[in-house]
Amino acid sequence: MSAIIPMKDIVSLCKRRGFIFPASDIYGGVNGFWDYGPLGTELKNNIRDLWWKSMVITPPLGLDGAPLQIVGVDTAIIQNPTLWKASGHVDGFSDPMLDCRETKLRYREDKLIVLKSKDGQGHALVFHEDAEQDTIDARLKKLARGKSSADFETVSLPEIDLSEYSNLIGPDTKKAGTLTEPKEFNLMLHTYLGAAAGEDNKAYLRPETCGSIFTNFKNIVDTSRVRIPFGIAQIGKSFRNEVTPRNFIFRSREFEQMEMQFFCDPKDDIKGWFDLWKNYRKEWWLSIGLSDENLNFHEHTQDDLAHYAKEGVGAYDIEYKYPFIAPGFDELEGIHDRSQFDLSQHEKFSSKKMQYQNLQTNEWYTPYVLETSAGLTRGVLAVLCEAYTIDENRPSGMYMNCHPSIAPKKAAILPLVAKDGQPEIAQKLYMEMREHMPVDLDIKQNIGKRYARQDEIGTPFCITIDPQTREDQTVTIRERNTMAQKRVHLDQVLGYVQGNLKYS
Ligand code: GAP
Repeated sequence: MSAIIPMKDIVSLCKRRGFIFPASDIYGGVNGFWDYGPLGTELKNNIRDLWWKSMVITPPLGLDGAPLQIVGVDTAIIQNPTLWKASGHVDGFSDPMLDCRETKLRYREDKLIVLKSKDGQGHALVFHEDAEQDTIDARLKKLARGKSSADFETVSLPEIDLSEYSNLIGPDTKKAGTLTEPKEFNLMLHTYLGAAAGEDNKAYLRPETCGSIFTNFKNIVDTSRVRIPFGIAQIGKSFRNEVTPRNFIFRSREFEQMEMQFFCDPKDDIKGWFDLWKNYRKEWWLSIGLSDENLNFHEHTQDDLAHYAKEGVGAYDIEYKYPFIAPGFDELEGIHDRSQFDLSQHEKFSSKKMQYQNLQTNEWYTPYVLETSAGLTRGVLAVLCEAYTIDENRPSGMYMNCHPSIAPKKAAILPLVAKDGQPEIAQKLYMEMREHMPVDLDIKQNIGKRYARQDEIGTPFCITIDPQTREDQTVTIRERNTMAQKRVHLDQVLGYVQGNLKYS
């Protein structure tokens, strides 16, 4: 079992090494928004490109063993607002929220837990579901003198009756009775198009990328040579006015999704397709370096299904053991059965036929949709958490064990000293290698510090040019995880690194 790394260490590394910064950092940030720095951008692009390859370029074989067809789109973030009325988001995409009258903070009801005294005496204390035990103990010490965790039972806030609210002490106050009753709060961010800021000009920033996949269904069937069963994939930004953006990039207000809608005949083996996608998607996360012990399938109960997934074979989350919830898990990707819900709704709202004709029987039907909906930015977080490895035996005290396929830099070229012809040899090798892979050339500073930097950014190989290089044309190649070094001829460096990265 690997150690659980505190989130603050991951956030600090991300800032120190240029993976991720708070958006508008110099103005104190803006809650729920993040900027990707040079290495974070490379890492995110690598995950994005591998998803695209596995879903669009080389999708899996179908239930009959034939290669599936998945095509890609890249649609506008702002669409006709009727799309979001039809999809149910204008009326139904909300979370139950409550406010604290004293601190003016707002909370999601389903993300709060309550510690109730077992003897029924005194106040009950409310905490965020992921509050650390230290925080819980410290508040109990202050607010429930003489009692410890063992004197309390934990229940979720939705289980608490409204009549008990006057006895609750909210998560960020010392006073009882300051929490309001929960109310539904719509999560869509909106803007106004054109000069007038009225209801008629209101438009929404998409809360999921798949909305415009559905509205393009007919365009794609009419213009591409796809035949059911087939999929449409999209990667892009989504926006949600999350009330409590939390845990670094885990829940943010602007994030990226990688979604695929799979259209099939409602008479087809829906359960078979669902299982195929569920397993294929988990395998993919394993293939980019997440470990099996940190992944989990969570099946939704009928009560917590999204509004579009109420029917059909259900929904599963692929979950990851993020440090802020470990040993528990939280969502990384959703695999949803959306049945005929979206296409039927769009047919109703647009009065355009959203059906498909069976080529053998000439019969028209509304296709059945299964969805794989992964968070790209949440994937970046999972990958960062997985990679962070403590190692007291090296100057950096840690290294990032990124899977080579997603490492921002595949190799670093480091002349031992910035003289004696070494920088020139390094430069020549760099010019050759950069044609094939992202590679760093780092000439100055002591070699230990340069190795430490590459360890911290997860570079799998460091290539060092030293005095011997000029004599026999060999360099040392240091492997990140083992720190083992080996001498390789300059002509073979590229091939060696490529072979060991399995990078194409
Ligand atoms: N189209 C279906 C859909 O959007 P979802 O479960 O709401 O389903 C899918 O979202 C994925 O998008 C989640 O598993 C998560 O990875 C990512 N996601 C959702 N909300 C997010 C947020 N506020 N911040 C970061 N990622 C988010």
